Amino acid sequence: MRASAFVFDLDGVIVDTAKYHYLAWKKLANELGFEFTKEQNELFKGVSRKRCLEILLDIGGITAAQEQFDRWMVEKNEDYLEYIEKMDASEILPDVPKVVGFLKDRNIPIALGSASKNARPILEKVKLLPSFDAIVDGNDVSKAKPDPEVFLIAAQKLNVAPENCVVFEDAVAGIQAANNADMISIGIGDAQILSEADYNFNDFTEISLAFLESLMSVQA
Ligand code: G6P
Ligand code: MG
Repeated sequence: MRASAFVFDLDGVIVDTAKYHYLAWKKLANELGFEFTKEQNELFKGVSRKRCLEILLDIGGITAAQEQFDRWMVEKNEDYLEYIEKMDASEILPDVPKVVGFLKDRNIPIALGSASKNARPILEKVKLLPSFDAIVDGNDVSKAKPDPEVFLIAAQKLNVAPENCVVFEDAVAGIQAANNADMISIGIGDAQILSEADYNFNDFTEISLAFLESLMSVQA
């Protein structure tokens, strides 16, 4: 299939915000009197804020009334935003600008497909917002990855058929969402964890421009 548009996940693909999510969730866990480890934080990748809090409270064996739950969601996000506030272009992951620049030079449309409700401010901070032809984030979707909704809306906004879209993802649920959308999936990270992806790379430094060219010219 010939690729004519590319969709990027945000957290873990364009920027390493997982460390900031971790610090904010850990602070809340510690306040509530339990530990939250980096290994447990792996479960939070690609997962909505609400679902993350549900998992966190499960880990701590805590049940909460809706009002309290909502207050903790706000508190975590306020802490997270303090980290985001300090971000700049130096936090873009290696060689992401190389790939984005290559696609822009060829007038290939690109979209963001993220579960985060903070996607726009983060892209603004790292100065990548103007590069994207469409943004679909946590404010636009009703179904979380692995549901394909986020990527299907992105394809629609770019006016490209799903099977002609390529998705860069670092989360298992994200790769499944791309596959469910009938898109070409590229796993960024551990190939064993992301084994359902069509292609795997540890990071963007491993992605050659010749590989991208081949995706754009292959006819199946
Ligand atoms: C991404 C991250 C998740 C995060 C989610 C919601 O998918 O990988 O860890 O929970 O976005 O982010 P938000 O910025 O809306 O809290
Ligand atoms: Mg991600």
